[in-house]
Amino acid sequence: MRIEVNGRTHEEDPRPGQCLRTYLRERGWFGVKKGCDAGDCGACTVHVDGEPVHSCLYPAFRADGRAVTTVEGLASPDGELHPVQRRFLDAQGFQCGFCTAGYLMTTAALDREQLADLPRAFKGNLCRCTGYRAIEDAVRGVRHVESPEAGESVGRNLPAPAGPQVVTGTARYTFDIDVPGLLHMKLLRSPHAHARIAAIDTAAALRVPGVHAVFTHHDAPERHFSTARHEHPEEDPDDTRVLDDTVRYIGQRVAAVVADSEAAAEEGCRRVEVTYDVLPAVLDPEEAMRPGAPVVHDKDATTARIARPRDNVVGEAHGEIGDVEAGFAQADAVYEATFRTQRVQHASLETHGAVAWFDEDGRLTVRTSSQTPFLTRRALCALYGLPAEKVRVVAGRVGGGFGGKQEMLVEDVVALAVLRLRRPVKLEYTRAEQFHGATTRHPFTVRVKAGARRDGTLTALQLRVVANTGAYGNHGPAVMFHSVGESMAVYRAPHKKVDAYSVYTHTVPAGAFRGYGLGQVMFAVESAFDELARRLGLDPLEFKARNVIGSGEPMVTPGGHEEDLHIASYGLDQCIGIVRRAQARYADERAPDGWLVGEGAALAMIATGPPGGHIADARARLLSDGTFELSVGTAEFGNGTTTVHRQIAAGELACTVDRITVRQSDTDVVPHDTGAFASTGVVVAGKATLRASRALADLLLDFAAAHLRVPRADCRLADEAVLHPGGRLPLKELYASARAVGVECAADGHFGGTPRSVAFNAQWFRLAVDPGTGEIRILRSVHAADAGTVMNPMQCRGQVEGGVAQALGATLFENVRIDARGEVETAAFRRYRLPQYADIPRTEVHFMETTDAIGPLGAKSMSESPFNPVAPAFANALRDATGVRFTELPLTRDRVWLGLRDAGVAEGT
Ligand code: FES
Repeated sequence: MRIEVNGRTHEEDPRPGQCLRTYLRERGWFGVKKGCDAGDCGACTVHVDGEPVHSCLYPAFRADGRAVTTVEGLASPDGELHPVQRRFLDAQGFQCGFCTAGYLMTTAALDREQLADLPRAFKGNLCRCTGYRAIEDAVRGVRHVESPEAGESVGRNLPAPAGPQVVTGTARYTFDIDVPGLLHMKLLRSPHAHARIAAIDTAAALRVPGVHAVFTHHDAPERHFSTARHEHPEEDPDDTRVLDDTVRYIGQRVAAVVADSEAAAEEGCRRVEVTYDVLPAVLDPEEAMRPGAPVVHDKDATTARIARPRDNVVGEAHGEIGDVEAGFAQADAVYEATFRTQRVQHASLETHGAVAWFDEDGRLTVRTSSQTPFLTRRALCALYGLPAEKVRVVAGRVGGGFGGKQEMLVEDVVALAVLRLRRPVKLEYTRAEQFHGATTRHPFTVRVKAGARRDGTLTALQLRVVANTGAYGNHGPAVMFHSVGESMAVYRAPHKKVDAYSVYTHTVPAGAFRGYGLGQVMFAVESAFDELARRLGLDPLEFKARNVIGSGEPMVTPGGHEEDLHIASYGLDQCIGIVRRAQARYADERAPDGWLVGEGAALAMIATGPPGGHIADARARLLSDGTFELSVGTAEFGNGTTTVHRQIAAGELACTVDRITVRQSDTDVVPHDTGAFASTGVVVAGKATLRASRALADLLLDFAAAHLRVPRADCRLADEAVLHPGGRLPLKELYASARAVGVECAADGHFGGTPRSVAFNAQWFRLAVDPGTGEIRILRSVHAADAGTVMNPMQCRGQVEGGVAQALGATLFENVRIDARGEVETAAFRRYRLPQYADIPRTEVHFMETTDAIGPLGAKSMSESPFNPVAPAFANALRDATGVRFTELPLTRDRVWLGLRDAGVAEGT
């Protein structure tokens, strides 16, 4: 066989049945990505003789005699970017960039007619990060990025440093490296929701040619741990083993087979003989709390840190401020209802995976798709009794996270294999494994009761919350606590009460996910207040505006995690003002005849970091060529923190951003960083960056003044030099002078993540609903975001657009369905519907004018929070249009139609 790839000839025959994607990647064309291996996501798109194909579906042998172009071959041979690549750079049409090669290849093949119909043209491509508007802008040739050359860095649309690598396919994600002698791991997963492993026989598996080892619970450490990664691991229950002798959900690991090839490892999995003692399972959290229900973890409550193991309650929160019964007695209207949210998958286009080896110094090196390299190292050291200096964890560019990679789901078992075999080992989840064996958003049931006086004064708010954490308690208690925090604190009520439970069931575990439980409870509270206002004959937005906390007021919840939380800047009033203006401006938007039209809003508040500390260290260094190196521990997974960190450093060091090289997400880089989660990339790692850069600037000026014997006050950094009364000392020369006397031009910065501020958001929709079919059209979507000082408006807008899009998926159709046995039945993108280009309208994004007293240079977080108000705003608009209150997500067309029919609204009923 002979294939020409980007002008280079490959003559090796493919393996029987091999697809073009793996054939290309095995030959180093790493720009070809794996998102699904099923033809659904388009991340693997290449051109064969100029025609775009999904290379995961295209048999490699069919490319015999043909010319294949991957993203690496899109630019001209002399390196001139293809116009489409240039446009994606100009508009920054990407975030994590894992989907970008696919979009570039699809777009480059579109003709004029196809370009006019992008919803159709992009049917075969998925992006989980951007919300598609930045991609549309890129295709249309809109330029957003500003030149890095001139002016202040902060507040400008400066481009992501990795942009050129992303659009040329040279950005290196987790598996985009060659590791000589690599072995492949595959996992055998449980077919039962609950069973004890009575016997496990690996002999037949070990006889499969190419199989090196099979690991079972007999090989795993006895130690229990939590897969959740937090700065303080004692916040999470120790209920998980690397490989356990009891399985608690369909899809749990039973054995790990390591072989020369994935195919041999898969065959090995098929040959492992397991005898199960099948046990009764419980899938519903309310049933799980009833007496006599099967116990998921029969462990000691104290040592495992499980609140009530025999009742399947892993964590609970109870509290009351004032007297809610008295508060309801004072009310002129009381609304009470139960709201339900569903399981949702993160669906990062890059699946979970890790590759590990021993380096030349004998250190265990783990390269992983993780948001928490430092905490993962800590967990591996604890698990295997290794000193920290013997373990290095590093993340390449991460292809999307959304909280799902704040979890140790693969590194532990890969490390086990490497420690035993002393060979490099790789484990890469398939898309199906992502559904069966990774985590989801916690499904919630929220009983809400709210009362208010006729004048619109809230008198009491009571919540009963049940969160289904699935078979393991990773993040369960923390999500439950957070869910009833800011969602209750944002409203002023004299009487508040909460009873919240995080409950085990024999289902796939839930985990951290953008918003960390707030979105689920806000769906209930924001819907309930809308309804309560209507009962009182009041405008819902006016009712909320009357009851939200004001600037300077204390934030109080019965759960209580607010000790270090402050309103260090207040933009909620401005957010409400944006919604009011949208209501007025778009009041006349019309829909087709016979459709019902309505509008609705929801408000949200979120802490800019987690309680209990989130630590970041940064180091800034002058290099011999007069440029700077910034080392930060936090990972970049499309959230744009690298761009912002460079902007902060450039501002302090009075240079352009292109003079700063960033090293990151590597435990060898800085002392410690808790990780890229809980909205901390800008406010915590950014503050450490600010401190390191400022300290370095001071150090350089101090040294220059002493060296030149000039007053320190007369020196300043500018134009790649220290300017002083006698002229200029170029930084290159300063570096040499400092080295000559043994001074290192470097400084560290640290931030412990406390005190914390809060950010605010508001979402507003105007919808049209076809009562005959349940179809809903979004006429207008407006989002107001109080992000403090907006460090990079283009990027921050992208976070809002992406958050709204992800929330619309969860509002409208995304649902990880579990069958009666407990098995996930939506384990592929074509069964689990992700929002496509055609599904997401353009959202008008407005930023408030605030400056935060705590965040770096006045900035606040804005990566999680846009998600939270979307579902309730949508449900409130639907209520306004139809008169029907929907209390369960997702709001699928059939559910809406049934609801309208039952209420007598649907046509023909
Ligand atoms: Fe599209 Fe991340 S940028 S999936």
